[in-house]
Amino acid sequence: MNDTNIAEKLEELKAKIESSLSVTDSSKALYELKNACLGRSGEISELMKGLRDLPKEERPQAGKTINALRDWAEEHFAEAEERIKQAELKARYASETIDVTLPGNRHKTGAYHPNTLIKRELISIFAGMGFTVFEGPEIENDYYNFTALNTPKDHPARDMQDTFYVTSDLLLRTQTSAGQIRVMEKQAPPIKILSPGKVYRSDDDATHSPMFSQMEGLVVDKGITLCDLKGMLDEFAAKIFGSGVKTRLRPSYFPFTEPSVEVDVSCFECGGKGCKLCKGTGWIEVLGAGMVNRRVLEGCGVDPDVYSGFAFGMGIERIAMLKYGINNMKMLFEGDTRFLRQFRMQ
Ligand code: DAH
Repeated sequence: MNDTNIAEKLEELKAKIESSLSVTDSSKALYELKNACLGRSGEISELMKGLRDLPKEERPQAGKTINALRDWAEEHFAEAEERIKQAELKARYASETIDVTLPGNRHKTGAYHPNTLIKRELISIFAGMGFTVFEGPEIENDYYNFTALNTPKDHPARDMQDTFYVTSDLLLRTQTSAGQIRVMEKQAPPIKILSPGKVYRSDDDATHSPMFSQMEGLVVDKGITLCDLKGMLDEFAAKIFGSGVKTRLRPSYFPFTEPSVEVDVSCFECGGKGCKLCKGTGWIEVLGAGMVNRRVLEGCGVDPDVYSGFAFGMGIERIAMLKYGINNMKMLFEGDTRFLRQFRMQ
């Protein structure tokens, strides 16, 4: 090997590096290429080793030329490294881009059933007046559902409710009033309970369903009068239907109350002037109530000469239909999500 020989080789190597660098586009390929050129046993190092074979006087010059090539190569590799690094970074950013304007995946949330909303609202209204909740069984003894409520076997009032019997003595409760007896048997007055739950009757049309829900209330203490019932009902009506809504009591009949009343609220739609909702009367019937019959108290071991009480019972579906303007009771049992999702709380 001599000077010209070396110069030729260097030119060749330079050209090779240049063309290789121009087509290299990944850091891995660049690393390998750099190793093959500038590495310990790379081509430039091999050239350096070849200096030994040159005549002594040519070595310094040839050494200088090789070093110059090494500097040149290092500079070009550094440039290529920077170029590839930037390109790779750009590609990575592009691939990891998140489009923050894309709509997210919304999880569908459920909605509370109107019955649940009303039940909770009623509980919260009455809890504010000191009532606690008692839930009785849905399959009830004839005794609790009827007999203890002053409705013995031959009593005509049994016809008021078409009953589903399970056996001659067991039935699907027709009224949450059964809960009153269970509470009075266990607890001495003062009593202030609310008893929500499902009830069953063989009845089926646009305003009746074989299964529906009721909310029962019972207050027993010394000196309870019909005025206490009226005061509590006014408070309840204003809270559930809006302030300004009044109540009125009409005489009625239930075997377990004496006197018994039917309770109307002034029409919250027209303010009492008369409209479609109140059928032109200005009043809407919402519940049954009365003073607990002495015979019922006695049967539960409560002395009617010391204690008195009032009770009331309302249909939860009826309240929901009135409050939300639902005209067909069946909608409350069909489970149609297009109907139900309208009650989703915001
Ligand atoms: N249990 C009655 C019914 O289902 C409703 C009712 C009326 C409940 C008067 C009462 C009451 O507690 O005092 O029709």
